[in-house]
Order: sequence, then structure tokens, then C-alpha cells
Amino acid sequence: TNPTLLILAGDGIGPEVMGQVTRIIDWYGKNRDLAFDVEHDLVGGAAYDKHGTPLHDDTMAKALAADAVLLGAVGGPKYDDLDFSVKPERGLLRLRKEMDLFSNLRPAQCFDALADFSSLKKDIVAGLDIMIVRELTSGVYFGEPRGIFEEGNERVGINTQRYTESEIDRVARSAFELARRRSGKVCSMEKANVMESGILWREVVQKVRDTDYPDIELTHMYADNGAMQLVRAPKQFDVIVTDNLFGDILSDCAAMLTGSLGMLPSASLGAPNPDGRPKALYEPVHGSAPDIAGQGKANPIACILSFAMALRYSFDQGDEATRLENAVEKVLADGARTADLMGPEDGTPISTTEMGDAILAALDAS
Ligand code: NAI
Ligand code: MG
Repeated sequence: TNPTLLILAGDGIGPEVMGQVTRIIDWYGKNRDLAFDVEHDLVGGAAYDKHGTPLHDDTMAKALAADAVLLGAVGGPKYDDLDFSVKPERGLLRLRKEMDLFSNLRPAQCFDALADFSSLKKDIVAGLDIMIVRELTSGVYFGEPRGIFEEGNERVGINTQRYTESEIDRVARSAFELARRRSGKVCSMEKANVMESGILWREVVQKVRDTDYPDIELTHMYADNGAMQLVRAPKQFDVIVTDNLFGDILSDCAAMLTGSLGMLPSASLGAPNPDGRPKALYEPVHGSAPDIAGQGKANPIACILSFAMALRYSFDQGDEATRLENAVEKVLADGARTADLMGPEDGTPISTTEMGDAILAALDAS
């Protein structure tokens, strides 16, 4: 039987970029003997419009049963005034929570053809290929107590940074597993100098390394220095593992090393299923881009590279993932540019579908 994919295209440019991914999935079925059973369903505003909820229970059940979920983007101005409980983002948060996706993989990869486009000097970013592993289900965004409380004659806003040993242990393992497929180097970032959770984080990560991953070269860095080093000399890193809050900030920072939001994929992985495949959701980092939705301008590459991550991390098809990444690299080297990848004076951009055409042609030639 074929592996199963649940596609949740969502809102705004979500369906536009996902349309190109669907073509690529078909290409793999026809040309590489790699067929998927694909099912499409609704998430976000699209699900709210039909069901009055941003994620129907049936869709949640399908996501838990699928071998991997591909998501486009959710949200848009139409839904901005909805009650918090039914906002489009809640659909995505429910998926992450119920699939227990604790390990968020955010690559920052600089394609040579786009090195001029980075906010940094070309030689600092050319050839850059790093991976930030962010803990996604715990830490200060979830810790209790939290709230705004009365204290004396004023109010106090409280959040709690909280990590258990097992939460640190499992995300450390996912980073070490990943590093084994790459250079074998991991840098763990926290603030053990000023935070108790940081002290525990450092201790547990080191223990997992010493016990089960002695082949991994592990270093530790304070997260503030990490931010500086990411901008000063990002190529010193391969895999970075960090908590939810630092990972949020560091991955956005790393993202800008590489150019456009339209280029950035992500994966969120949970515990392994009985067959060894982790629960997994793949999505571009960008949102629904209401300013360009419906105009055929969106760059589909972030979503396409998210599917490449699915090939690699859910389906053990690393060679096919590389084939797809090389096809993207080739079309960029040949000069294919959607509007987000060019300046105002750089000529006429190609459309979402034309970018898909070019990548399919590069796959045919591969
Ligand atoms: P955004 O990522 O949607 O857009 C930011 C800017 O980048 C816009 O100018 C947009 O046109 C451009 N952009 C984004 N993706 C692009 C692509 N593939 N090709 C070309 N240009 C691209 O973020 P924004 O504007 O803050 O949020 C818009 C909506 O998306 C909001 O409703 C927000 O809540 C939602 N959102 C959803 C996310 C998700 O589904 N994971 C993540 C971030 C925002
Ligand atoms: Mg962020």
C-alpha cells in the first residue's frame, strides 16, 4: 500500500502554492515509482467557513492517521475579528498539540543564486546550510502559572519558563538523530548563566549525548551569543537545538540570512508511530499573504521544499528529496524568479504556476 499524505492547503496563497506541490507529488508517482495516497481537507478560515471551526474533528482524526500532513497557510483579514476560540491559527495549534509535535525543524539554507539577496555579505552566507531544532510544545509559552494578576496596587504579568527532563531529553534526541544524517555537529543554546531551566537543559542535553550519542560533537552556547554568532559567522553551525522561546527568535533571525520568506520550509515532528515514522507536519514558514493572494504571484518554493523535507524525514527518501532540492537550485541558477525574489528594477517576475513548470522541467531533466 502507498504511504498516505493529508493535504491541508488552508487560506490565502496556501491553495496556490500547494497546487504546485500537488503537481510534484504526481510527478513522483509517474516518474519515480513513488506514489502517495493523497487526501485533501480544510483547515483555518476555509474550515471555519464550512464547519464553523478551524479544524473539524474528522480532519484531526485524518491527520493523526496520515503518514504525514502537508499544510499551506491559515488566516486572513476576513477572519481577524473572529472569537479567539475559532480563529484560523487555532486549527494549526490544535494539530501541533494533538499530534504532540515537539521538534520543529527550521533549515536556513542559502542557494548560491540568491546569495546576493541576503541581508548579509555574500561570502558570509554563500553555501550556508544549517538546521535549527526548536522545542515546540513546552517552555515559557505554555508554563504555569501564567496570567495578569493584581499585586499590591498594580498588576503583574507572569509567564513561567518550565522544562521537564523528559521534554529536554526527547528534543535533544531528535537533534542528535538529525545530526547523524548531516555533519555530526550539534550546538545547544540556552542561558544557563541566568536561568534554572537553562542549567537543567544543558545538563540533560549533555547526558543524552554522553549516554547514547558519543559520536556527536556537542557544544553549548549562551543564546544571546548564539544570536550574535548566527549573524557574524553562521557557517560555524550545523544543527542548533534550543528551547521554544529562543528557537522562535533564533530561527526568524537565521531565516533572514537566506533571503525571502517565500523560500523557507519547516517540519514539525512528534513521537515515532509503531512503524517508526514520526508524527509529522510539514509547512512553509510564511503565512497566507493576503496582500498577494489570488494573483498568481506567490513563490511556491517554501511549500515545495517542505514536501522535500517530508520525503526525507517521513519517507526515508533522502535521494529523492535531494533531487527536488537540486531542481529548485537549478531553476534559481537559471534565473527563474517570482516577485519576492527580485528588486523593482530586475525585470518581469514569473508566476506561481510558471515556477512550478520550471521545477517540473528540471525534475524531468534530472
Ligand atoms: P505572511 O507570511 O503571510 O506575509 C508577509 C509578507 O511576505 C507579505 O508581504 C507577503 O506577501 C510575503 N510573502 C509571504 N509568503 C510569500 C510567498 N510564498 N511568496 C511571495 N511572498 C510571500 O505574514 P503576515 O502578513 O504577517 O500574515 C498574513 C496572515 O497569515 C495573517 O492572517 C497571519 O495570522 C497568517 N499567518 C499564518 C501562518 C501560518 O499559517 N503558519 C504564519 C504566519 C502568519
Ligand atoms: Mg516567530
